[in-house]
Amino acid sequence: MKVTRYSEGCGVLISDIQLADLSDTQLADLRTIFAEHGLLFFRDQDFSPQDHLQFAQRFGSIVVNKFFRATEEFPEIAEVRKEKDQHTNIGGGWHTDHSYDDIPAMGSILVARKLPETGGDTQFANLANAYDALSPKLKSLIENLRAVHSNKHLYGENGLYRMTDLAEHLGGMDRVGDATHPVVIIHPESGRKVLYVNPGHTIQFEGWDFTESRNILDELYAHVTQPQFTCSFKWSPGSVTFWDNRCTWHQANNDYQGQARLMHRITLAGSALTAA
Ligand code: SIN
Repeated sequence: MKVTRYSEGCGVLISDIQLADLSDTQLADLRTIFAEHGLLFFRDQDFSPQDHLQFAQRFGSIVVNKFFRATEEFPEIAEVRKEKDQHTNIGGGWHTDHSYDDIPAMGSILVARKLPETGGDTQFANLANAYDALSPKLKSLIENLRAVHSNKHLYGENGLYRMTDLAEHLGGMDRVGDATHPVVIIHPESGRKVLYVNPGHTIQFEGWDFTESRNILDELYAHVTQPQFTCSFKWSPGSVTFWDNRCTWHQANNDYQGQARLMHRITLAGSALTAA
């Protein structure tokens, strides 16, 4: 197995490995690399939906997304689908998966099934590196805060997604909810401090005025999206990405209007987050 840095501060490319055919030793090595980097890219995988499911089950337990449609064959595999004539995509803004749950998802494994000829890259950000580089003043300001995370503004009755042509592909309107989490967490495997807020789901700091929260959150978001903490992954047939939702963000570029894109995603269950 070969591990190459993908970009300056974000992600590693793993080659000389087939995920469908991993030995126990390779799986253990992968766990170590995942804990250290939190964002793994694989290319040229021969990886059926059954292989996807088996790999996910070997790595952890699966948590099913409440809103996306599943594949007909496997209820554990969510479809991240955009039709040719559809305008809005899933995950088109920076977010991390399931931060609105009390026990947020640990990781997500995304597999390319149908790609547009151009566009449709996924961007990622490294929230451990971004936290380390915050000013001492901002670090001390956010140190003991908690933030409210929600999905109501996206998937609820009058949520943003419900107003778009994505609505007909979504379920779970009655399953929306909120959770609160520490703003700075300790990553359970790496032991690093991580900034745990995201533009998609974080509403405000608990107990703060909304506008004051917004100002600080916007400052944090502008910091995280600097090029030294982000990278863009260009998909090709056989590509797989595996990210740690506790220390990364991602967003799917919606720059391929008139073309279809289909990805398969399995989300892995996490554990309660611990404040730094
Ligand atoms: C997602 O938010 O999980 C989708 C990412 C993508 O489609 O690239």
